[in-house]
Amino acid sequence: MFDPRSITIEALESDPFPIYARLRAEAPLTGVPVANCWFATRWKDIEAINRSADFTAASDEAPVNEAFGRPNVLTTEGPVHAELRGGIEPHYRPKKVASYIEALVRPIAEAQLAPLLAAGGGDLMAEYFEPISALSLARSFGLSAVDVATLRRWFHGLSQGAINFERDPARKAQCDRAVAEIEALLLPLLARLAREPDGSPLSHLLHSGMPEGETRAPERILPSVKVTLLGGMQEPGHGAGTTLTGLLQAPEQLAALRADPDGLMAQSIDEGLRWVAPIGTMMRTATRETEINGTSIAPGTAISLIMASANRDESRFPDPDRFDIFRPQTAHMSFGAGAHFCAGKWFAKAQIEIALRTLLEAVPNLRLMETPVFRGWEFRAPQALRVRF
Ligand code: HEM
Repeated sequence: MFDPRSITIEALESDPFPIYARLRAEAPLTGVPVANCWFATRWKDIEAINRSADFTAASDEAPVNEAFGRPNVLTTEGPVHAELRGGIEPHYRPKKVASYIEALVRPIAEAQLAPLLAAGGGDLMAEYFEPISALSLARSFGLSAVDVATLRRWFHGLSQGAINFERDPARKAQCDRAVAEIEALLLPLLARLAREPDGSPLSHLLHSGMPEGETRAPERILPSVKVTLLGGMQEPGHGAGTTLTGLLQAPEQLAALRADPDGLMAQSIDEGLRWVAPIGTMMRTATRETEINGTSIAPGTAISLIMASANRDESRFPDPDRFDIFRPQTAHMSFGAGAHFCAGKWFAKAQIEIALRTLLEAVPNLRLMETPVFRGWEFRAPQALRVRF
């Protein structure tokens, strides 16, 4: 019998999938001491917890609370959640996204690609996908003036706090440095936007639904701004890099996509996001004594819903470890579910598509220089994606 006490953070970081497979088979709902919470690893249990009224996202244990502060959109429910989400969501709804995404992302992608073309290759994570992701979100959100090196430093720092399940002081310090830098830049900007609204999501967060002449205090919105900056800047780049890795390691699938991009692009991106979920987990807490598919759960139990594992549940996805853009189209869980379903899903998918199309159209002979190494369990992506053209 698999003992969850044998799980280490290093094993999760380097390759969590064999651990999840054993947990799905032998201990699908169980406490994992090193992560200070329970893990739910089967699709049907995660789905049941998401649907149950006995669980809340307002989880005291979620590392984002300590890292980014409260109230934040991820760990609130009811009217406060609606208020915070309502400030962000309108700019990222499908029709709105369709009205601006090509004009926003294509020039950023072309500018990032130009030096790579001149050099005949490079690291597509650091030099292409992550910059496109960070700049697209920052410009859409109301932070046009911040350069890409600063944005990447921010999301790498913020991510250390958001994943700090093991409460590591080094991770906390790295996150605190990013938070201090972000607040130093944002506080004067928010003061100006309070006086002079500009229609950006940042401005909307201050003004939406407020009585005439009043704005929200910066401390009310800053935690949710940090959540959005992290998810919004980091994840589309990671999803794009993962998708391209899968394609480069399956050349016949890449050739099929090149031959029919209009027909196969959407399912290729969904397969990349299923195969390696950029965000691997969501945190929920039991509000009362309850039962999930036969397992008793005590009130106050914090459970990490492992979407990365649900996406590889063999009862839903045959041969789940295989990247296969031709597999039957079955919904994955990488954007979460329920009231906290990702507010940036359409923006993210459209952005990944433009980044991939710009690259594939310009580079007919993309070749991997080394096997990409993935790391992370809460956030997972190739650490580098070195290619030659
Ligand atoms: C491939 C890219 C992305 C992935 C895989 C992803 C994934 C997720 C997931 C799993 C959640 C739910 C977390 C939970 O319930 O605990 C979430 C929430 C959220 N995401 Fe994304 N995300 C992505 C891109 C974006 C982008 C580009 C934005 C920018 C607008 C964004 C903004 C948000 C916000 C604001 C929430 C909180 C929603 C709420 O709590 O109501 N995400 N995302």
